[in-house]
Amino acid sequence: MVAGTGIESALEGVDVVIHAATAPQGDTEKVDVAGTKRLLDAAVETGVEHFVYPSIVGIDDIPFSYYEHKRTAETAVENSNVPTTIVPATQFHSFVAGLFDAVAKLPVWPLPTKMRVQPVAVSDVAERIVGHATSTAAGRADPVGGPEVHSVGDLAGAYRRARDLRRPMLRIPFPGGTARAFRAGHATCPEHAVGTVAWTEWLAEQYAGDTTDERQNKSPVA
Ligand SMILES: NC(=O)c1ccc[n+]([C@@H]2O[C@H](COP(=O)([O-])OP(=O)(O)OC[C@H]3O[C@@H](n4cnc5c(N)ncnc54)[C@H](OP(=O)(O)O)[C@@H]3O)[C@@H](O)[C@H]2O)c1
Repeated sequence: MVAGTGIESALEGVDVVIHAATAPQGDTEKVDVAGTKRLLDAAVETGVEHFVYPSIVGIDDIPFSYYEHKRTAETAVENSNVPTTIVPATQFHSFVAGLFDAVAKLPVWPLPTKMRVQPVAVSDVAERIVGHATSTAAGRADPVGGPEVHSVGDLAGAYRRARDLRRPMLRIPFPGGTARAFRAGHATCPEHAVGTVAWTEWLAEQYAGDTTDERQNKSPVA
């Protein structure tokens, strides 16, 4: 997508594009902005009927460079000549757990416990997105939020219980606009709490039988 090679041939005969490629840890300007524009241009060229774009709840109100690039990409999607649907979602369970997996390796848990998140199962988001894979464009669709809004402290507590982790948790009040926006709940959409899998249910399934040994920072069953 960055080099631009093979995009048009990949779109030959395609009616609906679901553009979920992203590089939050990489060059988001090149991948999420320029890559999205390139894909949109190719979609117009090849006569794609509908372009579906997953996005993120709250990016208009949360100052964060990845989100700014997602916003720019959304604008390109909205201004494109191909009919489009944008589907914002809240943070995936797997994404939140990935952050805690990293923190669990530290001797203590420094966390912005008051930030608020509404994690959702990726299967719920995928189901909604696939539901839009028709010839009917919806513009900006309703967001897909998880079933419950939680503080990061509560999410971490449930994660630690699921994995029987006991290192001390330290409340770190992160400064800056990004943390403030998360504390204010801008990343949540409680009026669209349509997700079917609660955080504790997801954890129970994900970490069933996990017997992590904190002293060694690794699971003996890995
Ligand atoms: N994660 C969340 O919590 C969350 C929440 C709401 C919305 N979303 C949105 O959902 C969508 C999918 O997110 P995700 O977290 O599932 O992403 P992900 O797991 O990081 O997967 C991103 C995909 O993009 C591909 N990709 C990266 N750079 C590329 C390039 N230059 N050309 C072609 N493909 C490239 C990656 O391919 P490789 O594997 O080959 O690198 C990977 O398959 C994104 O639009 C994201 O903004 C995510």
